[in-house]
Amino acid sequence: MANNIKNSTNLELPKKHFDLSLCKPVAKGAKKLIFYYPNDNDLLIKVLKPFKKSKEKNIIFDTISKLRQWYIVRLFYREIREYGKLKRSVNSGLCKHIPAFYGIADTNYGKGMIVEAIKEKDGGLCQTLKERLKSGNVQKDHILLLQEFFDNLTVSDIVAGDINSANLVLACHDGENKFVMIDGLGDKTLIPFRSWFPGNKRSFLEKKYIKLKARIEQALRLQEINPNDQERDNNS
Ligand SMILES: Nc1ncnc2c1ncn2[C@@H]1O[C@H](COP(=O)(O)OP(=O)(O)O)[C@@H](O)[C@H]1O
Ligand SMILES: [Mg+2]
Repeated sequence: MANNIKNSTNLELPKKHFDLSLCKPVAKGAKKLIFYYPNDNDLLIKVLKPFKKSKEKNIIFDTISKLRQWYIVRLFYREIREYGKLKRSVNSGLCKHIPAFYGIADTNYGKGMIVEAIKEKDGGLCQTLKERLKSGNVQKDHILLLQEFFDNLTVSDIVAGDINSANLVLACHDGENKFVMIDGLGDKTLIPFRSWFPGNKRSFLEKKYIKLKARIEQALRLQEINPNDQERDNNS
Protein backbone atom coordinates (compact mmCIF):
# COMPACT_ATOMS: atom_id res chain seq x y z
CA MET A 1 0.00 0.00 0.00
CA ALA A 2 1.47 3.32 -1.01
CA ASN A 3 2.02 5.39 2.05
CA ASN A 4 4.94 7.68 2.80
CA ILE A 5 5.03 6.96 6.50
CA LYS A 6 4.54 3.24 6.19
CA ASN A 7 7.11 2.82 3.43
CA SER A 8 9.84 4.89 5.03
CA THR A 9 12.62 2.64 6.26
CA ASN A 10 13.25 4.40 9.57
CA LEU A 11 9.52 4.97 10.17
CA GLU A 12 10.27 8.41 11.58
CA LEU A 13 7.28 10.52 12.46
CA PRO A 14 6.49 13.60 10.51
CA LYS A 15 7.32 16.46 12.84
CA LYS A 16 3.82 17.82 12.67
CA HIS A 17 1.07 18.95 14.95
CA PHE A 18 -2.36 17.46 14.31
CA ASP A 19 -5.42 19.51 15.05
CA LEU A 20 -8.13 16.90 15.52
CA SER A 21 -10.64 19.25 17.12
CA LEU A 22 -12.90 19.19 14.04
CA CYS A 23 -12.48 15.46 13.38
CA LYS A 24 -15.02 12.89 14.52
CA PRO A 25 -13.50 9.95 16.39
CA VAL A 26 -13.92 6.67 14.51
CA ALA A 27 -14.12 4.86 17.87
CA LYS A 28 -14.00 5.55 21.58
CA GLY A 29 -12.85 3.50 24.52
CA ALA A 30 -13.10 4.15 28.22
CA LYS A 31 -9.89 6.17 28.16
CA LYS A 32 -9.06 6.97 24.55
CA LEU A 33 -10.44 8.67 21.47
CA ILE A 34 -9.54 7.03 18.18
CA PHE A 35 -9.17 9.07 14.97
CA TYR A 36 -8.24 8.13 11.45
CA TYR A 37 -4.87 9.58 10.49
CA PRO A 38 -5.55 12.54 8.19
CA ASN A 39 -5.77 11.38 4.55
CA ASP A 40 -4.88 7.79 5.41
CA ASN A 41 -7.48 5.57 7.01
CA ASP A 42 -5.06 2.65 7.21
CA LEU A 43 -3.62 4.43 10.23
CA LEU A 44 -5.10 5.67 13.49
CA ILE A 45 -4.14 8.37 15.95
CA LYS A 46 -5.06 7.35 19.49
CA VAL A 47 -5.21 10.03 22.15
CA LEU A 48 -6.36 10.18 25.74
CA LYS A 49 -9.82 11.59 26.31
CA PRO A 50 -9.56 15.09 27.80
CA PHE A 51 -9.84 14.98 31.57
CA LYS A 52 -12.82 16.80 33.00
CA LYS A 53 -11.88 19.67 35.27
CA SER A 54 -12.44 18.50 38.83
CA LYS A 55 -15.20 20.45 40.51
CA GLU A 56 -14.29 18.92 43.81
CA LYS A 57 -13.75 21.39 46.59
CA ASN A 58 -12.76 18.56 48.87
CA ILE A 59 -8.98 18.31 48.85
CA ILE A 60 -9.02 14.52 49.28
CA PHE A 61 -11.32 13.90 46.28
CA ASP A 62 -9.40 16.46 44.27
CA THR A 63 -6.12 14.70 45.04
CA ILE A 64 -7.64 11.30 44.16
CA SER A 65 -8.88 12.70 40.86
CA LYS A 66 -5.42 14.12 40.05
CA LEU A 67 -3.76 10.84 40.99
CA ARG A 68 -6.17 8.99 38.71
CA GLN A 69 -5.28 11.28 35.82
CA TRP A 70 -1.59 10.82 36.49
CA TYR A 71 -2.10 7.04 36.55
CA ILE A 72 -4.00 7.03 33.21
CA VAL A 73 -1.25 9.08 31.54
CA ARG A 74 1.30 6.68 33.00
CA LEU A 75 -0.57 3.68 31.47
CA PHE A 76 -0.58 5.47 28.11
CA TYR A 77 3.20 5.90 28.18
CA ARG A 78 3.73 2.34 29.36
CA GLU A 79 1.73 1.16 26.35
CA ILE A 80 3.88 3.28 24.03
CA ARG A 81 7.02 1.84 25.61
CA GLU A 82 5.89 -1.73 24.89
CA TYR A 83 5.10 -0.79 21.28
CA GLY A 84 8.64 0.60 20.99
CA LYS A 85 10.08 -2.59 22.49
CA LEU A 86 8.15 -4.74 20.04
CA LYS A 87 9.26 -2.62 17.11
CA ARG A 88 12.87 -3.33 18.01
CA SER A 89 12.27 -7.10 18.10
CA VAL A 90 11.14 -7.50 14.50
CA ASN A 91 11.49 -11.29 14.56
CA SER A 92 9.09 -11.76 17.43
CA GLY A 93 6.17 -14.03 16.58
CA LEU A 94 4.07 -11.52 18.46
CA CYS A 95 4.45 -8.82 15.79
CA LYS A 96 1.54 -10.21 13.79
CA HIS A 97 -0.70 -9.98 16.86
CA ILE A 98 -0.04 -6.29 17.62
CA PRO A 99 -0.85 -3.36 15.30
CA ALA A 100 2.22 -1.82 13.68
CA PHE A 101 3.35 1.25 15.57
CA TYR A 102 4.47 4.38 13.70
CA GLY A 103 5.38 6.69 16.55
CA ILE A 104 4.01 9.53 18.61
CA ALA A 105 2.25 12.61 17.29
CA ASP A 106 1.51 15.98 18.86
CA THR A 107 -2.18 16.78 18.77
CA ASN A 108 -4.59 19.24 20.34
CA TYR A 109 -5.42 16.39 22.77
CA GLY A 110 -1.77 16.04 23.76
CA LYS A 111 0.40 13.14 22.64
CA GLY A 112 -1.16 10.58 20.34
CA MET A 113 0.08 7.21 19.20
CA ILE A 114 0.03 6.41 15.51
CA VAL A 115 -0.82 2.77 14.86
CA GLU A 116 -2.05 0.53 12.10
CA ALA A 117 -5.84 0.35 11.80
CA ILE A 118 -6.97 -3.28 11.96
CA LYS A 119 -9.76 -3.42 9.44
CA GLU A 120 -12.42 -5.72 8.04
CA LYS A 121 -12.54 -6.46 4.32
CA ASP A 122 -15.27 -3.84 3.95
CA GLY A 123 -12.86 -1.16 5.24
CA GLY A 124 -14.43 -0.64 8.69
CA LEU A 125 -12.53 -1.24 11.91
CA CYS A 126 -12.56 -4.89 13.01
CA GLN A 127 -15.11 -5.98 15.58
CA THR A 128 -13.71 -6.66 19.02
CA LEU A 129 -13.96 -10.15 20.47
CA LYS A 130 -16.37 -8.70 23.04
CA GLU A 131 -18.72 -7.60 20.24
CA ARG A 132 -18.37 -10.99 18.55
CA LEU A 133 -19.19 -12.83 21.76
CA LYS A 134 -22.24 -10.64 22.25
CA SER A 135 -23.59 -11.22 18.76
CA GLY A 136 -22.62 -14.90 18.74
CA ASN A 137 -20.18 -14.38 15.89
CA VAL A 138 -17.53 -16.88 16.95
CA GLN A 139 -16.36 -20.22 15.59
CA LYS A 140 -14.61 -23.27 17.02
CA ASP A 141 -11.33 -22.48 15.27
CA HIS A 142 -11.16 -19.15 17.11
CA ILE A 143 -10.05 -21.10 20.16
CA LEU A 144 -6.97 -22.31 18.25
CA LEU A 145 -6.29 -18.77 17.09
CA LEU A 146 -6.59 -17.57 20.66
CA GLN A 147 -4.12 -20.21 21.76
CA GLU A 148 -1.69 -19.14 19.03
CA PHE A 149 -1.93 -15.54 20.24
CA PHE A 150 -1.26 -16.52 23.85
CA ASP A 151 1.62 -18.83 22.86
CA ASN A 152 3.35 -16.01 21.01
CA LEU A 153 2.71 -13.58 23.84
CA THR A 154 4.08 -16.00 26.43
CA VAL A 155 7.44 -16.42 24.71
CA SER A 156 7.85 -12.70 24.00
CA ASP A 157 9.27 -10.14 26.41
CA ILE A 158 6.25 -7.89 25.95
CA VAL A 159 4.11 -7.01 28.97
CA ALA A 160 0.37 -7.07 28.37
CA GLY A 161 -1.48 -6.16 31.54
CA ASP A 162 -4.98 -5.61 30.22
CA ILE A 163 -5.95 -8.60 28.11
CA ASN A 164 -9.70 -8.74 27.74
CA SER A 165 -12.23 -9.37 24.99
CA ALA A 166 -12.65 -5.61 24.32
CA ASN A 167 -8.96 -5.28 23.54
CA LEU A 168 -8.76 -8.17 21.06
CA VAL A 169 -9.97 -8.16 17.48
CA LEU A 170 -10.03 -10.96 14.96
CA ALA A 171 -8.20 -9.83 11.84
CA CYS A 172 -7.71 -11.44 8.46
CA HIS A 173 -4.45 -10.61 6.66
CA ASP A 174 -3.53 -12.29 3.37
CA GLY A 175 -6.11 -15.00 4.01
CA GLU A 176 -4.75 -15.75 7.50
CA ASN A 177 -6.97 -15.19 10.52
CA LYS A 178 -5.36 -14.09 13.76
CA PHE A 179 -6.15 -12.33 16.99
CA VAL A 180 -4.69 -8.84 17.26
CA MET A 181 -4.40 -7.04 20.57
CA ILE A 182 -5.31 -3.43 19.85
CA ASP A 183 -4.98 -2.15 23.44
CA GLY A 184 -3.71 -3.28 26.83
CA LEU A 185 0.07 -3.36 26.43
CA GLY A 186 2.12 -2.47 29.51
CA ASP A 187 1.49 -2.98 33.18
CA LYS A 188 -1.98 -2.01 34.35
CA THR A 189 -1.23 -1.92 38.05
CA LEU A 190 0.21 1.15 39.75
CA ILE A 191 3.32 -0.79 40.66
CA PRO A 192 4.51 -2.47 37.46
CA PHE A 193 4.73 -5.98 38.89
CA ARG A 194 4.60 -7.73 35.53
CA SER A 195 7.62 -5.82 34.25
CA TRP A 196 9.49 -6.37 37.49
CA PHE A 197 8.65 -10.06 37.86
CA PRO A 198 8.33 -11.50 34.34
CA GLY A 199 8.67 -15.01 35.83
CA ASN A 200 4.97 -14.97 36.75
CA LYS A 201 3.93 -14.24 33.18
CA ARG A 202 3.15 -17.81 32.11
CA SER A 203 0.62 -18.50 34.87
CA PHE A 204 -1.00 -15.06 34.47
CA LEU A 205 -1.46 -15.62 30.72
CA GLU A 206 -2.64 -19.19 31.24
CA LYS A 207 -5.46 -17.90 33.48
CA LYS A 208 -6.42 -15.23 30.93
CA TYR A 209 -6.45 -17.80 28.13
CA ILE A 210 -8.65 -20.22 30.09
CA LYS A 211 -11.11 -17.43 30.88
CA LEU A 212 -11.41 -16.20 27.29
CA LYS A 213 -11.57 -19.74 25.93
CA ALA A 214 -14.46 -20.48 28.31
CA ARG A 215 -16.29 -17.40 27.04
CA ILE A 216 -15.89 -18.50 23.42
CA GLU A 217 -17.09 -22.00 24.31
CA GLN A 218 -20.09 -20.55 26.10
CA ALA A 219 -20.93 -18.40 23.05
CA LEU A 220 -20.58 -21.48 20.83
CA ARG A 221 -22.99 -23.42 23.04
CA LEU A 222 -25.51 -20.57 22.86
CA GLN A 223 -25.13 -20.47 19.09
CA GLU A 224 -25.88 -24.20 18.92
CA ILE A 225 -28.99 -23.81 21.05
CA ASN A 226 -30.20 -20.70 19.25
CA PRO A 227 -28.68 -20.46 15.76
CA ASN A 228 -31.36 -18.00 14.62
CA ASP A 229 -30.24 -15.42 17.15
CA GLN A 230 -26.87 -15.25 15.47
CA GLU A 231 -28.40 -14.84 12.01
CA ARG A 232 -30.69 -12.12 13.29
CA ASP A 233 -27.82 -10.30 15.03
CA ASN A 234 -25.56 -10.57 12.01
CA ASN A 235 -28.23 -9.12 9.75
CA SER A 236 -29.06 -6.24 12.07
N1 LIG B 1 -5.50 -0.49 16.02
C1 LIG B 1 -6.84 -0.56 16.01
N2 LIG B 1 -7.48 -1.14 14.96
C2 LIG B 1 -8.83 -1.23 14.95
N3 LIG B 1 -9.63 -0.75 15.91
C3 LIG B 1 -9.04 -0.15 16.97
C4 LIG B 1 -7.62 -0.05 17.08
N4 LIG B 1 -7.35 0.60 18.24
C5 LIG B 1 -8.52 0.85 18.82
N5 LIG B 1 -9.54 0.41 18.07
C6 LIG B 1 -11.00 0.55 18.39
O1 LIG B 1 -11.17 1.60 19.32
C7 LIG B 1 -11.73 1.12 20.54
C8 LIG B 1 -11.09 1.83 21.72
O2 LIG B 1 -9.68 1.71 21.65
P1 LIG B 1 -8.81 1.30 22.92
O3 LIG B 1 -7.37 1.45 22.54
O4 LIG B 1 -9.24 -0.03 23.42
O5 LIG B 1 -9.21 2.46 23.95
P2 LIG B 1 -9.33 2.43 25.57
O6 LIG B 1 -7.90 2.52 26.07
O7 LIG B 1 -10.11 3.64 25.91
O8 LIG B 1 -9.98 1.15 25.95
C9 LIG B 1 -11.46 -0.39 20.53
O9 LIG B 1 -12.40 -1.09 21.27
C10 LIG B 1 -11.54 -0.71 19.05
O10 LIG B 1 -12.90 -0.85 18.66
MG1 LIG C 1 -9.43 -0.78 25.40
